[in-house]
Amino acid sequence: MIDSLKFITCGSVDDGKSTLIGHLLYDAKLLFSDQEKALELESKVGSNDGDIDYSLLLDGLMAEREQGITIDVAYRYFITDHRSFIVADTPGHEQYTRNMAVGASFADVAVILVDASQGILIQTKRHARICSLMGIKHFVLAVNKMDLIAYDEHRFNEIKEEFLREVANLDLDTISVIPVSATEGDNIVNRSQHTSWYTGETLIRYLETIDVSIKSKQSGFLMSVQRVSRPNHKFRGFQGQVEVGEISVGDEIISFPSEEKACVKSIFIGNKDCTTVSAGQPANIQLDSEIDVSRGCVLVRDVAVELADMFTAEILWMDDAELVVGRNYVLKLGTKVVPATLMKIKHKIDINTGKHISADKLLKNELAICDLSLAENIVFDSFTNSKGLGSFILMDRITNMTSACGVIKHALRRSTNVVWQDTDVTQKIRANQKNQRPITIWFTGLSGSGKSTLANELEKRLVAMGKHTMLLDGDNVRHGLNKNLGFKPQDRVENIRRIAEVSKLMNEAGLIVITSFISPYQEDRQSAREVIGEDSFVEIYVSTSVEECERRDVKGLYKKARAGEIPNFTGVSAPYEEPNSPFMKVETEMCSIEKATDLILQTLMEQKCLKE
Ligand code: ADX
Repeated sequence: MIDSLKFITCGSVDDGKSTLIGHLLYDAKLLFSDQEKALELESKVGSNDGDIDYSLLLDGLMAEREQGITIDVAYRYFITDHRSFIVADTPGHEQYTRNMAVGASFADVAVILVDASQGILIQTKRHARICSLMGIKHFVLAVNKMDLIAYDEHRFNEIKEEFLREVANLDLDTISVIPVSATEGDNIVNRSQHTSWYTGETLIRYLETIDVSIKSKQSGFLMSVQRVSRPNHKFRGFQGQVEVGEISVGDEIISFPSEEKACVKSIFIGNKDCTTVSAGQPANIQLDSEIDVSRGCVLVRDVAVELADMFTAEILWMDDAELVVGRNYVLKLGTKVVPATLMKIKHKIDINTGKHISADKLLKNELAICDLSLAENIVFDSFTNSKGLGSFILMDRITNMTSACGVIKHALRRSTNVVWQDTDVTQKIRANQKNQRPITIWFTGLSGSGKSTLANELEKRLVAMGKHTMLLDGDNVRHGLNKNLGFKPQDRVENIRRIAEVSKLMNEAGLIVITSFISPYQEDRQSAREVIGEDSFVEIYVSTSVEECERRDVKGLYKKARAGEIPNFTGVSAPYEEPNSPFMKVETEMCSIEKATDLILQTLMEQKCLKE
């Protein structure tokens, strides 16, 4: 069986990426004859003066041809006598950094193109940085359009030296530099007559022979468990792909995070019963004793892995929405999925120059070093040791879209001197004493929607019923506990986080808590729900249109906001995300405060929210 190579081509619009791949396919006779004819025909009527326009070959990139730029990742498959190839072609513009990262994450080799007449550009450095970040260890610089500089050896060497200097600090295994002309076909498949001074390989020869097998720095064995297979009551096997080393029947392994030990009883590769399995192979491993192993666990022998719930990582932000410090995401590393909080941006990295810049937010396509905190310990490794256990993605908890990809730098140690202290008087005892069920009634809505008025009315009614309550109101809390917070997204995240924690404490004290905060972001209300607990969180959406709030303008703030005197004003210059499925929606434009409060109380009682 011939092996396969995955590579990515990186270059700017006019560097000739598509032409290069097109020429590769044409010269290597990888086209069907009808494709070849169509190409010659199309070129005749095209804009290339009858010469073959090789870029026409890449059907996947139709949109690029139409607009002059590539807009997504296009994958192309081809095969020679020596190897099969998958090539990812991605756009080179800075605003498509995330596309390049996606293409690079799957590739073993990066073919970086530069225009010989222009030399190394700022985007060349950016392309190199992204490819290295995504773990590519083999770079080939194709110095294209050599025909335009009359195949000048001296100029080629200058470009080569500059490139080698630029990538010197990246962690690469091999770097090759080849002089080519994508339109003329020099050194692509056939050795060029014009570069007799060049003694290296042609591009195709390089791609056919480059050895990308992982030179694992570690012996031993490591496999993340992807699935627990239980075809019948006698067999319990752990399936996954071996990431490091090999394991044989009889060997002892440790399962992380439980750190329990067991010996390998049998190994299946597909349906075949085997004695050994090694890196890259899918395996189903049966152990000789019942230990704690589930999806996301890692089976290890003689490999030092780390276990931690905080680490520093380099991330590439991919979301249209900006990154907000303090917000919660879902982190997926290997087969493990855990809630994660982005605690701090240490600094941004200028993707072009590599310079460090201080920042409190990140926009799409920006790179940064950040600290992350996880809801539980996970097993990981540094990215240099293991691509699988050293890289992760962050997913938006509401949309499930990938918000960022990242690689782990090192673990951070949380203080181990703080332990949870159990108390004899429990929440249940405190609640029973007050003869009530402690819940948090969370009002959300625009400023001036009527939250505070409703919250106030509801509290009066509850107290009249003999209930023990506490009302937390946005404006009031911002006079004390949260007086150091403003209205930027990261401040609002922290505002809501603190309120959620305080509400939880008050619920623990047995109180019924009523909160009145705009809480404009769905994600933050979801976080509050998780802190307070699904069963204790009652979300009430006070639905009043911006127009009506503005008409009421009780505090005169809308007027000021319209005049540009209040920045980030919800409903005017900052967003409000409506709840998807609140416990109740109150339309204040339709009913009076008394009626709305009646309705809320009635629903709370019907749903048995106030009493066990
Ligand atoms: S939240 O968005 O973080 O939940 P919170 O409810 O605490 O906001 O505070 C909102 C109150 O602060 C509003 O009712 C209003 O009186 C006042 N305020 C001052 N500036 C702003 C602003 N830029 N956006 C919204 N409310 C503001």
